[in-house]
Amino acid sequence: MTRILEARSDEAMAIREAIALLARGLPVAIPTETVYGLAADATNPDAIARIYEMKGRPRFNPLICHMADLPMAERHVIFDPLSRRLAEVFWPGPMTLVLPVRETSPIHPLARAGLDTVGVRVPSGMAGRLLAALDRPLAAPSANTSGGISPTTAAHVAADLGKKLELVLDAGPARIGLESTILKVENGAIRLLRPGGLDVADVEALTGTLVVRPHGAGAAIEAPGMLASHYAPAAGVRLDATSVFPGEALIRFGGRSLPGEERAAIVLDLSPTGDLREAAANLFGYMKEADRSGAASIAFAPVPVHGLGEAINDRLRRAAAPRE
Ligand code: TXA
Ligand code: MG
Repeated sequence: MTRILEARSDEAMAIREAIALLARGLPVAIPTETVYGLAADATNPDAIARIYEMKGRPRFNPLICHMADLPMAERHVIFDPLSRRLAEVFWPGPMTLVLPVRETSPIHPLARAGLDTVGVRVPSGMAGRLLAALDRPLAAPSANTSGGISPTTAAHVAADLGKKLELVLDAGPARIGLESTILKVENGAIRLLRPGGLDVADVEALTGTLVVRPHGAGAAIEAPGMLASHYAPAAGVRLDATSVFPGEALIRFGGRSLPGEERAAIVLDLSPTGDLREAAANLFGYMKEADRSGAASIAFAPVPVHGLGEAINDRLRRAAAPRE
């Protein structure tokens, strides 16, 4: 069974315990500001293989490698000037940059799925301090079974991976609640590989250039390993609902009621005040709560597409996609 260790009361002790397991090649679930991650030493192929095994990943996708800070990242990947500028401004934070790996980096090819690039992120908070103490990169996908909903609390992690995992560090609910935004600079242009917790508008405001969405605004974004069906609850998902069928779960937005909601199994509002940040933080937890209501279908009212709404709508489309 998984031990949930309340890590905020004695953080130094919690970090020591996590490092002891990581050094033995065992994955540990750690809090980040985006979602809880299933972390393992990115230089140890056995440890990385255990991540794929625990998640039941259908194939080897490249994993994001977490670093303590920019100098540590510089030891493993090669920065172009624009990527370095993004790193200086947005790290630590919910942004991943895909960059060429240095030949001298010990990051194992299994973590990169054989690519000659690495997705690198510097998380804030306890994960950042753990990485500084460890002084080596951690590969960490979201700490959930492949295809399921990403965990935003330690309890979510334990409920999902409890049989296989030794330790979860608990630092409370994830502040942002959506995975990082993944960017890749190519020929001086910034490409969006996955919308996420960093608002693309902030990137555009900083650089004065438009971020390139490969499939046009609103389309699902493809990065290696991003399956169309993903983030799926057990219940079916119905998008753009304008009314609720009896017995459905309803997840609405902005305090707006829908006809029929009095007969819904449960009614949840991502943000009664219409705040997209709050909606992002609540999204995955509310999907789990809607599942627990036992409803066979979850109706989602429309969520605006601007700001973090882009990432929220990306996750909703994946949750609603035909399952494999
Ligand atoms: O917020 C997050 O990013 C969370 C927390 C735990 O930090 N982590 C996360 O990691 O979502 P992960 O491993 O599930 O993200 C993997 C995705 C891949 O499916 C792919 O889309 C992209 O990151 N990726 C990783 N390395 C890449 C690379 N070299 N080239 C292109 N995409 C890459
Ligand atoms: Mg995931």
